Amino acid sequence: MRKKIVAGNWKMNLDHTAAQSLFSEIVNMVNDEVLGQQEVVVCPPSVHLYTLAQLAGKDAKVAIGAQNCHQAASGAFTGEISASMVKSTGASHVILGHSERRQYFGETDELLVLKVNTVLEAGLTPIFCIGETLEERNSGNHFDVISGQLKNGLFHLPAGSFGKVVLAYEPVWAIGTGLTASPEQAQEIHAFIRQQLADQYDATFAGCVSILYGGSCNAKNAPELFAQPDIDGGLIGGASLKSRDFTDIAKVFN
Ligand code: G3P
Repeated sequence: MRKKIVAGNWKMNLDHTAAQSLFSEIVNMVNDEVLGQQEVVVCPPSVHLYTLAQLAGKDAKVAIGAQNCHQAASGAFTGEISASMVKSTGASHVILGHSERRQYFGETDELLVLKVNTVLEAGLTPIFCIGETLEERNSGNHFDVISGQLKNGLFHLPAGSFGKVVLAYEPVWAIGTGLTASPEQAQEIHAFIRQQLADQYDATFAGCVSILYGGSCNAKNAPELFAQPDIDGGLIGGASLKSRDFTDIAKVFN
């Protein structure tokens, strides 16, 4: 069976004190209330990674992830952090290809190939984001956009490596807008993604890849979204900044 995962993307929010206090609340709630096998991941701004990993401790039920890293191992890249640096903080995951990185920082499929390779080489789990804009959906291109992002960003990987990747379908029009995809819309795309994986690799392999939904997912709509057969959890933005809401989303899999 594939893993159920609820990951929080804090984006560029919270100073060091606020990050520690929110994270401590989440860890306590998750320890007390999350009863199933679901994985819970928190992705803070990278300056907080080490402190939060220390707070989580060794047997933590909450894993830590970065929101991005550079494709090179090291070197003269002022302002950047490498995958091995992320790993050395105690983090285990890295979000890659988020639409905000694609849109505001010009990240292309070609660049993401390099990033996914470096993240896997460091022994980290990429949470690889794909999703269409509103224009692309309205013009009926969303299936092509998604299959293109998969093909161009990930299909160079052999199945053994792809097996370590977590996918996140985040329709750009649903991010931070309150316009959640309906469970049917999300399921349709998740099933399509899984079919693409089956075509490229095989059906058994495709059945083992966790595919998360992201885009205005909250404690209210998560139960219906996560009840869909191909939705294996969520990548949560705004609602991950509230310990009660985020933990309630994780508890959907209890
Ligand atoms: O990566 C999570 C994300 O982009 C969704 O954000 O605020 O719509 O839950 P939000």
